[in-house]
Amino acid sequence: MTDTHAMLAKPTHDELAEQMFVRDLKVHMFRTIDPLAGKLAESFDPGEQSNSRVDSTYEAVSKMPGFSRFVGLYRGSQELLWSLVGHSVERQAAELEEIASQAPGDLGSLKLDPEMEQPEYIAEGDIHMMPGGYALDDGSLVQGALMDRGGAVYMLGQNGGFLNDRRGWTLAAHLHSRWPDFKPEKILEMGCGIGASVVPLAKTYPDAEVHALDVGASMLRYALARARHLGVAVHFQQGSAESTPYPDESFDCVFSCAMFHETSPEAMSNILNECYRLLRPGGIVAHLEVPQRYEDETLWTQVRGELEREFNNEPNWKTAISADYDTLLKVAGFTDVATGYQDATGSADSTPENFAPENKGVFRSWFVASGMKPADD
Ligand SMILES: C[S@@+](CC[C@H](N)C(=O)[O-])C[C@H]1O[C@@H](n2cnc3c(N)ncnc32)[C@H](O)[C@@H]1O
Repeated sequence: MTDTHAMLAKPTHDELAEQMFVRDLKVHMFRTIDPLAGKLAESFDPGEQSNSRVDSTYEAVSKMPGFSRFVGLYRGSQELLWSLVGHSVERQAAELEEIASQAPGDLGSLKLDPEMEQPEYIAEGDIHMMPGGYALDDGSLVQGALMDRGGAVYMLGQNGGFLNDRRGWTLAAHLHSRWPDFKPEKILEMGCGIGASVVPLAKTYPDAEVHALDVGASMLRYALARARHLGVAVHFQQGSAESTPYPDESFDCVFSCAMFHETSPEAMSNILNECYRLLRPGGIVAHLEVPQRYEDETLWTQVRGELEREFNNEPNWKTAISADYDTLLKVAGFTDVATGYQDATGSADSTPENFAPENKGVFRSWFVASGMKPADD
């Protein structure tokens, strides 16, 4: 985790030790405790013929004496992560504002919409327990600083370290895999957060005008300063991907990274229709999501979907990983649709072989669904 940028909150020695502790706790849970819980769950498997296989396994596991300790550890590690990173970030709030003010002022822009009504799924809970959620705004950029540093720890440093940019590079590699001659002039990321994924796209297509949209004003203030310090021009805008402020047919490429699982079933269709509206004929849509596909997963991973919903405030997790993206994209009007797994990467270099039907695993590949708006539309 060596590459970094000027806006990233810098922990003291003790704060760093705390953050590394929570990261290692999560690694231990992921590698050691989770597989044991999975074995226990399998012992309650009523078999494939059961209509309620996941529900009945979840019910049986949740009655086991150790279950409350297991979910307590899972939820507790999330609370600990945000609380430790939060204290460190808040201590540096004034310093971060100062660093933001020193960023090159001529790169990119920011448009906020104080009247914006937040989508219900954003307003109703703090997604994956980040205090204040994506939309909290106190006029500062602290929420963005929390998301950036906290996100790198949450991803165990395995998504591009402190730049947290492997999703973006993987998306760029996907575009190269499928459309090597594609040269978009105008690109939009929907659900950009603090801009970690849009920066690689801007670097991949340096001649393109790059836009990025999200619901949260604090995240976007931070995103602009972060991109500027990284020397990249991005035009950030506050708004919902379901109904954006951009004119019809104004982009050659619209993409998202890990956004759908934070929305709702209705929003997913609305967003795909909005992508279609925003793209010029012949334009490309690409959505990257977590690599789990519900139907291909083990019983335990399916049961875990219930835990994500109940204990990690991820209500759309199961819908997003079980959605039929091929059909959803086609229904929205896209052609040349493909779904599969793109090898996780730290550069845009790619060949068609790096996009395949097999999931190589978490942090090794990402699920991507992509397609084209018909050229003669
Ligand atoms: C897991 S984060 C990913 C952020 C970024 N794409 C990345 O790869 O680092 C999901 C983001 O989607 C945003 N989001 C969810 N629903 C949205 C909507 N309807 N409109 C715009 N952004 C949305 C959230 O605010 C959040 O920033």
